[in-house]
Amino acid sequence: MDISGRTVLVVGGTSGIGLGLARRFAAAGSTVVVAGRAPGAAAGLAGDGSLDTVRMDVTDPGSVLRARDEVLTRHPDLDVVVTMAGVMLFEDLRDPAHTAAAETTIAVNLLGTIRVVDAFTPHLLTRERADVITVSSGIAFLPFPLMPTYGASKAGVHAYTEALRAQLAGTGTTVTELVPPAVATAGQELVNPAALPLEDYLDEVLELLTAGPTPDEVVVRAAQRLRWAERDGTYADLLRQRSQALSTLPGR
Ligand SMILES: NC(=O)c1ccc[n+]([C@@H]2O[C@H](COP(=O)([O-])OP(=O)(O)OC[C@H]3O[C@@H](n4cnc5c(N)ncnc54)[C@H](OP(=O)(O)O)[C@@H]3O)[C@@H](O)[C@H]2O)c1
Repeated sequence: MDISGRTVLVVGGTSGIGLGLARRFAAAGSTVVVAGRAPGAAAGLAGDGSLDTVRMDVTDPGSVLRARDEVLTRHPDLDVVVTMAGVMLFEDLRDPAHTAAAETTIAVNLLGTIRVVDAFTPHLLTRERADVITVSSGIAFLPFPLMPTYGASKAGVHAYTEALRAQLAGTGTTVTELVPPAVATAGQELVNPAALPLEDYLDEVLELLTAGPTPDEVVVRAAQRLRWAERDGTYADLLRQRSQALSTLPGR
């Protein structure tokens, strides 16, 4: 995949991995727009004039369409859309109050991805060449039991991405899935010493994304043991290890 001279929208690009990826595209010579619920208030964007911004709440269909119209008016040559918006929430499934977190997670991570793809696909199909980049997680392939709906939402993003790729085959639009491992963003840097530093993660992503034909999935080294646990016969052992984190829930 060529990352220079592109016109890119990163939905969920106001912080963390999305902002880092947006900056990599911009540094490579692409025009980049980042979207989030309140880009004007995003600390990571303060004083950064290199990225255009748009307000978008992926849980609100009207907001997605308004942002789509705004972006395409300002950037009619848009040819890359990244669906990075996501929330990562812990849930105690013995407490029915977790349902609120479950609903938010599905609304942002799964329905949000679908809404953004739906909003931009007709435009992307008018381009000779375009890319959709979705974002799942290693947890889509090996659950982390503290985040049950998160895993379900990302397994859904994976399945949806596979179907989208099949449906867009033969068009000029390529569909790629990022499968991040734990990355030191969104507070992970405080609780997970094994989380990959953001810039190290982005170095590896860019290497895989730009080498030869665009891969269907971008699975950096640290994500491989999660992505391929079932194939490698390590799934049960790893799931048991990852279940130990449940002891941090109140009353366990
Ligand atoms: N960090 C990890 O370890 C890890 C691992 C695997 C996968 N991932 C995935 O990578 C993606 C980015 O994660 P991150 O770690 O960079 O988290 P982050 O720093 O919290 O970034 C999340 C982004 O999503 C946006 N967002 C949240 N709710 C939204 C909504 N309703 N509408 C529009 N945008 C919304 C946020 O923007 P606003 O707050 O400005 O709206 C922000 O730009 C997520 O999809 C996450 O699931 C992360």
